[in-house]
Amino acid sequence: MNKHTSTASAATSSAPLPFIDIAAQRQRLGAAVDDAVARVLAHCQFVMGPEVRDFESALASFCGARHVISCASGTDALVMVLMAKGIGPGDAVFCPAFTFCATAEVVALLRATPVFVDVDAATFNIDPHSLARGIDTAKKAGLRPKAVIPVDLFGLPADHDAVAAIAKAEGLFVLDDAAQGFGGTYQSRRVGTLAPATATSFFPAKPLGCYGDGGAVMTDDDALADVIRSVRVHGQGSDKYDNVRVGITGRLDTVQAAILIEKLKIFSDEIAARNRVAARYNDGLRDVAIVPEVPTGYQSVWAQYTLRLKPGRRDALAATLREQGIPTAVYYPKPLHRLEAYRDFPVAANGLPVCDQLAEEVISLPMHPYLDAAAQDRVVSAVRAALRA
Ligand SMILES: Cc1ncc(COP(=O)(O)O)c(C=O)c1O
Repeated sequence: MNKHTSTASAATSSAPLPFIDIAAQRQRLGAAVDDAVARVLAHCQFVMGPEVRDFESALASFCGARHVISCASGTDALVMVLMAKGIGPGDAVFCPAFTFCATAEVVALLRATPVFVDVDAATFNIDPHSLARGIDTAKKAGLRPKAVIPVDLFGLPADHDAVAAIAKAEGLFVLDDAAQGFGGTYQSRRVGTLAPATATSFFPAKPLGCYGDGGAVMTDDDALADVIRSVRVHGQGSDKYDNVRVGITGRLDTVQAAILIEKLKIFSDEIAARNRVAARYNDGLRDVAIVPEVPTGYQSVWAQYTLRLKPGRRDALAATLREQGIPTAVYYPKPLHRLEAYRDFPVAANGLPVCDQLAEEVISLPMHPYLDAAAQDRVVSAVRAALRA
């Protein structure tokens, strides 16, 4: 996505618009980030310095989780939770197939079996009916159903109450993959508190991103938090050289923590701005495409703004917009069960027709908090003209 991150604001001309404008945020934060990094360079505690703890407690206050364990990436956040839960060979972990590969990658890394589940066409998120079918499929295949990883795709929380009800009945652990959804809310609760454990990513293009790789786990479970903290540092016990389990090097750099402290201060304001952009896009495009409507009781953080088009119209729209300097992206052109690395894993009985359909229909438009009204109008007019042609 880096090629789309230049500062061009040129809303009214045909100058290229950025897809995500990290540079505009950098300008807004200005000296605050420079000073934060300079403080770390001065104290030289580059690993587990004081900013790491400060950031973890600021993030815990923001989302309401009891424990925040920062780490080196969203993928590490997911894998550390599964390691702490002892997930391994013979275990089935249910994942929606319409997501980024990391959701299932962590399951396969631990030699457990990802079982792919369909999604709901309106929300792009895990379909509880398909989850129930996936559990049957896993049992018939002789696997032990152990966990489910709902994903808050494109920034919209999954239907966590529906997932929790099935998980409770089946004894599944729920790990919320909030790499895209951190900052969102569901039934007045913040992402980070919607499941027994939540993993998020601070990859630069995420709604709350750092200037490199980073991630965090959130949980209210004291015992689980202790194990995850141990996994984060090579499975250390009471002493650094007393390793009580197999772990990883999963720590967040102090420099990234210092940057995130500054970014978190403006995050609520940015979430509001993202929601204003999405509302304006929805109003301008509702009659020409299927727009992403947010269900009552949810707030999205709009990691992506994604339209659905009639099959066959996407490439022409992307080409027309590109000529006018408006970038688009397709998340995701192939659902996970169609990818070479994952196509041999089981899928819920009846297949995943909605994932297959969405992969043909979706297209994402520029979305970030610094997209001004003129730029939004430029995008809306160009999409309308192209789809009406
Ligand atoms: C849904 C989802 N899960 C997990 C990840 C992994 O996060 P990271 O890139 O920080 O490892 C991503 C990142 O793109 C993601 O979008």
